Amino acid sequence: MLIVNPKAARRPYPEALRTVMNMQQAAESRAWLSTWNRFERPVTPLLGMPDLAAELGLGKVLIKDESVRSPLASFKVLGAPVALLRLILARFPDRGFEPGALLAGKHARDLAGFTVISATDGNHGRALAAAAQSVGCRCVIVLHAHVSEEREQAIAAYGARIVRIRGNYDDSVHEAASLAQENGWTVVSDTSYEGYEAIPRDVMQGYGIIAAETLEALDASDGDCPFSHVFLQGGVGGLAAGIASYLWERYGAARPTMIVVEPRQADCLYQSALVGHATKASGPVDSVMAGLACGQASPLAWKFLEGGIDAFMTIEDQEAVDAMRRLARGSANDLPLVAGESAVAGLAGLLRLLESPGKAAELGFDGRSRVLLISTEGATAPSLYAELVGEAASAVQERQRAWLGAR
Ligand SMILES: Cc1ncc(COP(=O)(O)O)c(C=O)c1O
Repeated sequence: MLIVNPKAARRPYPEALRTVMNMQQAAESRAWLSTWNRFERPVTPLLGMPDLAAELGLGKVLIKDESVRSPLASFKVLGAPVALLRLILARFPDRGFEPGALLAGKHARDLAGFTVISATDGNHGRALAAAAQSVGCRCVIVLHAHVSEEREQAIAAYGARIVRIRGNYDDSVHEAASLAQENGWTVVSDTSYEGYEAIPRDVMQGYGIIAAETLEALDASDGDCPFSHVFLQGGVGGLAAGIASYLWERYGAARPTMIVVEPRQADCLYQSALVGHATKASGPVDSVMAGLACGQASPLAWKFLEGGIDAFMTIEDQEAVDAMRRLARGSANDLPLVAGESAVAGLAGLLRLLESPGKAAELGFDGRSRVLLISTEGATAPSLYAELVGEAASAVQERQRAWLGAR
């Protein structure tokens, strides 16, 4: 399913949005995180996939690989830590805390009685737990029934207390809010709801770092954007809003064409585009793409997506699995890549879209198109990855090393 967004705007980035999210804040977030010792590399790779581009009849396909920034293996490591820092700075304004010192745990004693809580489908909670452990505050993570045991263990490994509930992601969001209220804890959520926007804004703002790094890697000037199309996978819409807002602010009316991709069963952004406001998914929200299995669009994210996104589309779980295998295989000129279930939705969306020549032409795809995809996670659930791809992530990494060695 695909809908071309009639409200997509080709005009300068609106001032009303700039006051909420802007490139300057993204740069500040980046500077803060650059000191965090959990990052294994300061910048993630931007990979060209020339064989894939040739096969699809496109000028270029670029993949920004967010799986290798830290052992947490997902882009979410750019969101929750920034929000936690901004929260602590705002909550304790007189203590003279400084972001680098906070991340280095230098104020752990002052923060031992401070507790943050969040619902998660895996990656956000893991990032929040890791950040909380670094700064030295307490962290409680609420998991819904469909979050796998291995994802739970990955979060608990960072010292978070786990609360398991029945129900789905949206139920866990409600549970986190009521536990916070009962206990005087602070919710650090990646999704917004009525009266709760500042923290999800800070989470989304951190994702702008991906756009900033991509433009730097391509030596982008202020004139033309070095890519023509961007695919952004959607859960609650935070990733898409963080990146779309950055590119819209930077390029204004000349921004690239941006397309949001979701699992069919968790199509809350697609449905939002249909009805014109942030709304719920039409399906049972039980996709294999765990990070995208969200039933309610973030109203704050929607403010950016409403005008910043050119098309919304959905894909099937099997298409994601096929895309995982394809990236894992690699080819003579394309590096084999470990990309998890939610990481590949953009590629699956691209493949699906190109099967409809009319829609592809309407969205401006041709032999000169330069398409940016963001691989948002590696094998964050390793046994599920192995089951779906038919080999372990370590085997793909082995093939990757051989590919690089042969260059
Ligand atoms: C790997 C991965 N990709 C994409 C997303 C979507 O992000 P958002 O919920 O901000 O739309 C998530 C969300 O958890 C995720 O874990």
